[in-house]
Parts: sequence; C-alpha cells; structure tokens
Amino acid sequence: MGTPLLFTPLRLRGLELPHRGWVSPMCQYSCDPAEPGVPRDWHLVHLGQFAAGGAALVFTEATAVNAAGRISPRDTGLYNAAQEAAWQRITAFIHEHSPIGAKVGIQLAHAGRKASTYWPFSGRTGSVPAAEHGWGTVGPTAEAFDGFAAPRAMDASDIAAVIADFGAAAARAVRAGFDVLEIHAAHGYLLHQFLSPLVNTRTDEWGGTEERRRALLLAVLDAVRANVPAEMPVLLRISATDWADGGLDADSSVRLARAAAAHGVDMIDVSSGGAVPHLTIPVGPGYQSTFAEQIRRLAGVPTAAIGLITSPEQAEHVLASGQADAVLMARAVLRNPHWWLEAAHALGAPAPWAPQYERAAPRPG
Ligand SMILES: Cc1cc2nc3c(=O)[nH]c(=O)nc-3n(C[C@H](O)[C@H](O)[C@H](O)COP(=O)(O)O)c2cc1C
Repeated sequence: MGTPLLFTPLRLRGLELPHRGWVSPMCQYSCDPAEPGVPRDWHLVHLGQFAAGGAALVFTEATAVNAAGRISPRDTGLYNAAQEAAWQRITAFIHEHSPIGAKVGIQLAHAGRKASTYWPFSGRTGSVPAAEHGWGTVGPTAEAFDGFAAPRAMDASDIAAVIADFGAAAARAVRAGFDVLEIHAAHGYLLHQFLSPLVNTRTDEWGGTEERRRALLLAVLDAVRANVPAEMPVLLRISATDWADGGLDADSSVRLARAAAAHGVDMIDVSSGGAVPHLTIPVGPGYQSTFAEQIRRLAGVPTAAIGLITSPEQAEHVLASGQADAVLMARAVLRNPHWWLEAAHALGAPAPWAPQYERAAPRPG
C-alpha cells in the first residue's frame, strides 16, 4: 500500500506543503477591546495546537484589512504595526515547533454590511451600537442584512480604499512571516456581497453584469499579487452557491474560478452560502465537495474541500476521487486538535509527532 494521498506533499507555486490536511479559518472573537485587532495568547495557543497536532497548513481566522472590515469588535486585523508584530510571533512559533515544517496562512477579509456585529458568545445578536464600540458599515448598496444596521453604499473612493487596504494587508502578511494568503470572498462578506446578484444591485461599473460584479474581487486580487512574492500561493475562498434562486451557482462559480486564476489565484477553497439569510441548505457529510469537484474539473483550477469532512477515510476519499487537492477541516479539529496524528496512524502513513509528544505515539505491533 502506497502513502495515502492525504499525507503526500502538495506544491503551490514556490511552496511545498508537507501534506494535504489543513486547518480551515476559524474566528475566535478573542481580541482585547483595548487592543483592537491584535491577536493574543489565545490565538497563539489555538493556532499552535494544530501545528503540534500535525496539520500541514494552519489558517488564521478571517482577519480584517481595515478596522471597519471586522465582523465583531473582537476580530483580528492586519492593518497596523501592533497587529503585524503579534502575528509575527504566531507564525514564528508554528514554523519553529511544527514537527513537519507546517506552513501558516492568513485569511484576509472585509465583512462589509455584516461588520460591527456581536460575537457569538456575547449573549447578544445583531449590530453593535456606537456606544459599545460599534461602527458604521459599508456595502455595495444601502440595503441591510437581516435586521443588521443599514450600511452606507460604497462610493468610488471607498472602493479604491478597500482595494488598497487588501494590498497593504498582503504586504504586512509577507512581513509577518505568513507563507500563504487566502482572500475571503465567501459567507456573505464584502467581496461576496459584490459578487452575488442577490446583494449587488448596483448599476455602475461595479454591478449590473456578472463581469462587473466580479470587478472588485479581481482588482483586490491584482492588488494582493502586486504586494506578495511571485512564489507565494494565493487562495480564494468562495461561496460556490448562494443556495437561492437568482444567486450564484455552480456554473457561475466555474466562470469565477477561471477569472480568479487568470488574476493569480492558485487554488479555490470551496464553501457556500451566507449572502442572504433564512436558507434551506442540504447539509451533510462532504456537502460542498461536489462543487469543489466541478470547479476542479471544469475550470482546471486546484481546489480545497471544506464542510463536514470528519474522518481520515472520508478525507482520503475526497482526494482520491478527484474532488479536491487538499482537505480543510474546522469543527472536527476543534474537537481533536491532534486529528492529523491519529489520521496518519489510521491510514498507515508516517505520523508527524512532535518530539515532546513522541512517548504517546502508538507503537507498531
Ligand atoms: C468557530 C468557527 C469559526 C469560523 N470562522 C470562519 C472564518 O473566520 N472564516 C471562514 O471562512 N470560515 C469560518 N468558519 C467556517 C469554517 O471555516 C468551515 O468552513 C465550516 O465550519 C465548515 O467546515 P467543518 O464542517 O469542518 O466545520 C468558522 C467555523 C467555525 C466552527
């Protein structure tokens, strides 16, 4: 029996990832309001545990490219020197302590009309008022998301500023030691808001046709590429379907993947939903992997699968059946941050044990 695909390396541009089992971005809502956007010890321990657990690529949570782009007042950012220095400490830790040379990725994001909201364990929902350090939000139009405060429709200078902010955050990410960037254009956040015909009803150069709705994302990708080394991989997370009539769907996502690849994207991370509320989503094991397969096959762009992938055998199947080139996981690895150690053992691959933990490794025979 050869090495399972899950534990074979993957090259993206100039970077070799030691294997194909990666950590999906997960907001921790754990910044100190006194130091907005600065990741702290929680983030170090949270992300560091996955490196000790054998992950090959650890993604940070959605990290805002400017203060207004944070989902909640407790989100991380990468728009000032204090944030850059704090992220540098985390990338250095993972690089130093991963037993397999794990890489670190950052998900760069702007929440648009879904910004300035309460975090999940705050006991509150909806928009945070100014008195509690909330802020005015922006979006493609002035239409609110599901009872949130209404955003201000972005004008030309707002759009130019957001494009520049993505570029500046990308430059900071390189300086902070990240190996991989992911642009968040899924889950109903700003770039997805512009992409989705259900949200973007503009009639200027940023809306009205599929190409014009895509223009902001492509401009962001150009700004990001201009600020990172040629050998650095850039991933794009998309919602492959809005799960709603008249919204983005599998076919439009194949076209989007082709356009993104032409603007320097190396892999599409295929998620779904989030643009509009109150959807019925057929959630089940691997429920988004079929979109990843379609994009990979029809657009010819590498994909990462995400969504209810929980067992080593299931992850291996996603790769072996050609649905994706890598497997991201979120909740299963929160439950077991050493998932990859156990997965390697289950699949018969050499296990990436940290020397500090080796006495716990299963012995052959
Ligand atoms: C605690 C938590 C925080 C999340 N934060 C983000 C995020 O910052 N960015 C993102 O793209 N997805 C985020 N997600 C979605 C996950 O990355 C993933 O797409 C989703 O949980 C489905 O994968 P799973 O079934 O392996 O959990 C989050 C999920 C969880 C559970």
